[in-house]
Amino acid sequence: MYDQKGENAGRVIKHFTERAESYDKGNWPLDNELLSAHTALIGNVNGKLVLDVACGTGIIGHALSKLGAQVIGIDISTSMLLRASERISALICGNMLDLPFGSGVFDLLVCRQGIHYIDPIPALTEMHRVLAKCGSLLISSIVPYGDEDYDWYKERIRIKKPEQVWIPTTNSLGELLKQVGFSIICIGHHQTTSRLSTTKDRTGHDSRVQDVFLRHHLSAQDKIKELYAMKFDNNDVEYKINWVILMAKAP
Ligand SMILES: C[S@@+](CC[C@H](N)C(=O)[O-])C[C@H]1O[C@@H](n2cnc3c(N)ncnc32)[C@H](O)[C@@H]1O
Repeated sequence: MYDQKGENAGRVIKHFTERAESYDKGNWPLDNELLSAHTALIGNVNGKLVLDVACGTGIIGHALSKLGAQVIGIDISTSMLLRASERISALICGNMLDLPFGSGVFDLLVCRQGIHYIDPIPALTEMHRVLAKCGSLLISSIVPYGDEDYDWYKERIRIKKPEQVWIPTTNSLGELLKQVGFSIICIGHHQTTSRLSTTKDRTGHDSRVQDVFLRHHLSAQDKIKELYAMKFDNNDVEYKINWVILMAKAP
């Protein structure tokens, strides 16, 4: 299931090759409040050496370099890295399972919405390895709101994002971080607004996937519709997705 170096890595690369050009036009990549929710937890980065893991088009790394950090970005997709080159000058194509750096090098690692494509334990262990003593990791993920929407959310991912190999939750991500030796410094939550029509114009999904996705929202229980603040109009749906943003330290 977690075979990132094999079949899933191929699927991830294919997916982001198709999405790279329009990635930034998505519902949340350039959302300023989401960016601030990340940077607010990090504090002062001036002069720090930062690795943006699964940097995509370089949005998080770029925000940190504007705050004075020296940023290196790494991603498995050359198409995403090509876009990132407009924002970050030091980029490496590579797999987060095998970071091409010595141990204890970085002051800070950031990884926004990248951990769910991969077996989390070896990936987080590798992130821990390259962090300097007392270095920090900021990791974030879209997560279900809680137990009540877990199954509905899981099905939503199965429909929309078959490249995703596991479902992070606030608790599971925290536990995984502790398991590989991090201590949790703080946990933040944030909600962003998405629209199905925005996703539709941006991904390689065919209309059948969009229809199934819309039906999945239309047929959700009322309590789920409320949780996601769903609004339907004309074969479209707007909804709020939930993020967890964790700041952890390598002792
Ligand atoms: C949803 S995008 C997030 C990009 C960026 N972090 C952001 O916040 O906009 C996920 C990124 O993870 C990258 N990725 C997935 N698996 C990876 C792996 N094993 N190693 C490195 N990058 C990976 C993808 O290529 C993609 O660019």
